[in-house]
Amino acid sequence: MSMEARFLHIGLGLMLLLAAQCAPAIAIPGPECQTKCGRVDIPYPFGIGDNCSLSADFNTSCKEVQHGVYKPFLGKFELLNISLVNGTIRELNHISTYCYNPSSRLMEPYIWPHDARLSPYRFSDVNKFTVIGCNTLTYIKDRNATTYQSGCVSTCKNLTDVTNGSCSGMGCCQTAIPKGMDYYEVAFNGGFNTSQIWNFSRCTYAVLMEAEAFNFSTAYISTTKFNDTNTGRVPLVMDWAIRNGTMSLACEEAKLNKMGTYACLSSNSGCVNSRNGPGYLCNCSKGYEGNPYLPDGCHDVDECKNSPCPSGGVTLSSAAGILFLAAVVAVLTRRWQRIVQKRLRKIYFRKNKGILLEQLISSDHNANDGTKIFSLNELEKATDNFDHTRVVGRGGHGTVYKGILTDQRVVAIKRSKVKESIEIEQFINEVAILSQINHRNVVKLHGCCLETEVPLLVYEFISNGTLYDLLHCEKNGILLPLSWEERLRIAVEVAGALAYLHSAASMAILHRDIKCMNILLNDSYTAKVSDFGASKSIPIDQTHLVTAVQGTFGYLDPEYYHTGQLNEKSDVYSFGVILLELLTRKKAIIVNGNGERQNLSSFFFEEMGMRPLDEVVDREILEKGSEEVIMSMARLAEECLSLTREERPTMKDVEMRLQMLRVRQGVTPRKRMDGEVARRCEVVRANMTNGAILVAAASHHGSRQYSLEQEFVLSSQVPR
Ligand SMILES: *[C@@H]1O[C@H](CO)[C@@H](O)[C@H](O)[C@H]1NC(C)=O
Ligand SMILES: *[C@@H]1O[C@H](CO)[C@@H](O)[C@H](O)[C@H]1NC(C)=O
Ligand SMILES: *[C@@H]1O[C@H](CO)[C@@H](O)[C@H](O)[C@H]1NC(C)=O
Ligand SMILES: *[C@@H]1O[C@H](CO)[C@@H](O)[C@H](O)[C@H]1NC(C)=O
Ligand SMILES: *[C@@H]1O[C@H](CO)[C@@H](O)[C@H](O)[C@H]1NC(C)=O
Ligand SMILES: *[C@@H]1O[C@H](CO)[C@@H](O)[C@H](O)[C@H]1NC(C)=O
Ligand SMILES: *[C@@H]1O[C@H](CO)[C@@H](O)[C@H](O)[C@H]1NC(C)=O
Ligand SMILES: *[C@@H]1O[C@H](CO)[C@@H](O)[C@H](O)[C@H]1NC(C)=O
Ligand SMILES: *[C@@H]1O[C@H](CO)[C@@H](O)[C@H](O)[C@H]1NC(C)=O
Ligand SMILES: *[C@@H]1O[C@H](CO)[C@@H](O)[C@H](O)[C@H]1NC(C)=O
Ligand SMILES: *[C@@H]1O[C@H](CO)[C@@H](O)[C@H](O)[C@H]1NC(C)=O
Ligand SMILES: *[C@@H]1O[C@H](CO)[C@@H](O)[C@H](O)[C@H]1NC(C)=O
Repeated sequence: MSMEARFLHIGLGLMLLLAAQCAPAIAIPGPECQTKCGRVDIPYPFGIGDNCSLSADFNTSCKEVQHGVYKPFLGKFELLNISLVNGTIRELNHISTYCYNPSSRLMEPYIWPHDARLSPYRFSDVNKFTVIGCNTLTYIKDRNATTYQSGCVSTCKNLTDVTNGSCSGMGCCQTAIPKGMDYYEVAFNGGFNTSQIWNFSRCTYAVLMEAEAFNFSTAYISTTKFNDTNTGRVPLVMDWAIRNGTMSLACEEAKLNKMGTYACLSSNSGCVNSRNGPGYLCNCSKGYEGNPYLPDGCHDVDECKNSPCPSGGVTLSSAAGILFLAAVVAVLTRRWQRIVQKRLRKIYFRKNKGILLEQLISSDHNANDGTKIFSLNELEKATDNFDHTRVVGRGGHGTVYKGILTDQRVVAIKRSKVKESIEIEQFINEVAILSQINHRNVVKLHGCCLETEVPLLVYEFISNGTLYDLLHCEKNGILLPLSWEERLRIAVEVAGALAYLHSAASMAILHRDIKCMNILLNDSYTAKVSDFGASKSIPIDQTHLVTAVQGTFGYLDPEYYHTGQLNEKSDVYSFGVILLELLTRKKAIIVNGNGERQNLSSFFFEEMGMRPLDEVVDREILEKGSEEVIMSMARLAEECLSLTREERPTMKDVEMRLQMLRVRQGVTPRKRMDGEVARRCEVVRANMTNGAILVAAASHHGSRQYSLEQEFVLSSQVPR
C-alpha cells in the first residue's frame, strides 16, 4: 500500500472516530458547581443551579433558612440525604392535620398533597402511612382515589388507654403502601363526635413517612406542635431513578445510548433497573466505589490493592458432578468443537481484517521489526490457556495476562471486555500507528491477535508496577524510598516521551490521560508511558480539537474541561500534577485538613504561600535535593498548571528545563540526611535484602490493571 493510500485510510479512520465522539453527550457538572449545601452532600446527577444537575428534576436549591444556615430543597421539600448507592433521597414531608377549632367548634382539615407525577421519584415502600388521633378514620389515596385508596382507624377513650411506643390502633395506626406510588393525599373522615376527646386530643395527624424514623409517644396525642408548617415535618424516603416522564428506558435499551443520554458515564460502572417504577440507576462495579454518573467517578475501593480474582462460584461438591458431566460432554463434542473453533477463529480473523492489517504493517518497512500478528494458539501457549495464575491485572475494561512467548520474550497480553461496535477499521489503523512509535519511554506494542471476537493486544511486559504504586502504595506498611535523583529522572523521562509524542511528526499525538497510574516502571525504574486508550492526534497546523471531555479528575486541564477544546497544553497541565506528586508524594486528589477533597495543585500552592518549602514537599527529597533545584521544579509545575494555556510551557521546554535541573542537581553537594529519615531508609534497605522486597515486587505486578486497563486501542498516529 502506498504511503498516500495509507494516510487516506488513516484519515478515514480518524473521521469515524471523531464522528463517534460528536454524538450528543450528557453534560457533566463544571468544577464551579457546589457539591454541598449546609451539611448535605449533593452528588451528581443532583446539583445546585442550572447547569449542575442532570436535569431539572434533580435541580436542587440551596437556601439560607436562618442567618448563616443553609439547607437544600428539592421543590418545596427540604432534602436530608441523597444516596446514590440506594437510589434514594430523604426529605421532610408535611404532616396533614385535622384540628378542633374552638370558635367554629368544628374540625378543620389542612391537607398537604404530595405530587411526584412525571418526576423521577416514587414513594419508597420503607414509608408507612402514619396517623395519630383518638377518634379517627383517615385515608391515603392517589389522585381522586382512582386507583388506590387505603387507610387506618385509631381510637382511644382515655389517654390512659394509650401505650407509649406502640402504634397499633390505640391513638396511633399505620399502614404500608404499595410500590410505584407517585402521588398521595389524605382524607379525614369527619363523622365522629369529638366532644369526649377534645380535652386531651385537639388534633388528628396523618402523614406518609419513613417507618424507621417514627416512634410513637403518648405525648403525641395531646400535642399541637405538629400543627405547624415547620415543626410538622417528618422524614420521607423517595426512590429515584434515571427516567424521563413516559419516555423511560430500562437498562437494556439505555445502554445502547441511542439518544446519547446514557447516564452511567464512569468506567467500571454498570446499570441496574429501578426497583420502584420505570428507569434505571447506575452503580460502580464490584471493587469500585464513587459516583458512577461522572466520568471516572468510580475508583478502586483500595487503589493500592489488587482487584481480587473472581472466585470460581462453584462449590466443591457440585464441582465434582459438574466435572464428570463436563468430561463426558467434552469427549463427545471435542471433535465437533475443534472444527467450530477453527471456523470461528477464521471468521473473527477475517472480520478483524487481519489481512489488511498484515498488509499495513508489512508494507511499511519503517515499522518496528517486532510488530506482528500473533495466532491465538501462540498466545494460548504463552499464557497456559489464559490461566488465572497468569493474570497480572484486572479492571472493568479487561484483563492483563503475563505471557512468555516461545522466543522467551515476556509480554503483557491485554484481553479487552469491550465488545461494542468497535470500529475495526480504526482498530487496524491504530495498531499500525502504535506499532510505529518507538521511544524508550513509551510502552512498546509487540503486536496483536485478531482471531478472537475482540482483538488481543500484546505489549512488552513492564515488571515493576506504576509510578502511582511506587509513590503512594505502602509495601509492608512503608513507602519504598524514592530518591530525588530518581524522581528527577522519572520526570525527565516522562517529559521526554510526551515531547516526542507532541512534536515528533506532522501529527501531534495527545495522550489525554497522563497520570501516575499510566506511568509504568520497569525493573530499573525506567518510566514507560502507557494507556493510549484516550489518545488523539491532531494535524500540527490545527490549534485544537473539540471533543467530549475525557480524562481523570485531579489531572484534568480546567480549560479543556470548560471548553472541550483539546490541545497539547492539556497534557502539560496533567504533567504538572505529576511533578507535584513527585515533589510531595501526595495523591492528585487529597483530603485536606477540613476533610474536603481538594486538587493537589490548589492545595500545594496554598500551602506554598503559607509555609516554608521544607514543610510542603516530601521530606525524603530534602535529603539530597538542593532547595534551589526543588524550588525550580515547583515553579515549573506552577507554570505547567497555569490556568491559561498560553502561559504553560511546551513539553519540549519542560523536558529541557528538567534536564537542566538534573545537571544542576548533579553538581550540588548533598545535604546530610536527618536522623529519622536515615533510620527509615535503613530499615527498608535491610528488609530489601532479606526478601521482603520480593513481596513488594509481586504485588506490583497486580497493579498493572490501572495502566493497561483502558488501553484497548490507540487513536493516534505518527506518520513519518
Ligand atoms: C447554562 O448553560 C447554558 C448553555 O451552555 C448557558 O447559556 C447558561 O448561561 C448557563 N447558565 C448558568 C447559570 O451558568
Ligand atoms: C425528556 O424527554 C423529552 C421529550 O421526550 C425531551 O425533550 C427532554 O429533553 C428529555 N429530558 C431529559 C432530561 O432527558
Ligand atoms: C434550578 O433551580 C433554581 C433555583 O430553584 C432555579 O432558579 C432554576 O431556574 C432551576 N433550573 C432549572 C433548569 O429548572
Ligand atoms: C442523613 O443526614 C443526616 C444529617 O443531615 C445525617 O446525620 C445522617 O447520618 C444521614 N444519613 C445517611 C444514611 O447518610
Ligand atoms: C442505604 O440503605 C441501607 C439499607 O437500607 C441503609 O442502611 C443505609 O443507611 C442507606 N444509605 C444511605 C446513604 O441512605
Ligand atoms: C380529580 O380531582 C381534581 C381536583 O382534585 C378535579 O379537578 C378533577 O376533575 C378530578 N378528576 C376526575 C377524573 O375526577
Ligand atoms: C380516664 O382515666 C383516668 C385514670 O384512669 C380516670 O380517672 C378518668 O375518669 C378516665 N376518664 C374517662 C372519661 O374515662
Ligand atoms: C356528642 O357527644 C356528647 C356527649 O357524649 C353529646 O352531648 C353531644 O350531643 C354529641 N354531639 C353530637 C353532634 O352528636
Ligand atoms: C415514651 O417513651 C419514650 C422512649 O421510648 C420516652 O422518651 C417518653 O418520655 C415516653 N413518653 C411518655 C409520655 O411516657
Ligand atoms: C392549627 O393551626 C392553624 C393554622 O396555623 C390555627 O389556626 C389553629 O388554631 C391551630 N389549631 C390548634 C388546635 O392548634
Ligand atoms: C523490580 O522488579 C524486579 C522483579 O520483577 C526486582 O527483581 C527488582 O529488584 C525490582 N527493582 C526495584 C528497583 O525494585
Ligand atoms: C523489616 O523487617 C523486620 C524483620 O525482618 C521487621 O521486624 C520490621 O518490622 C520490618 N520493617 C518494616 C518497616 O517493614
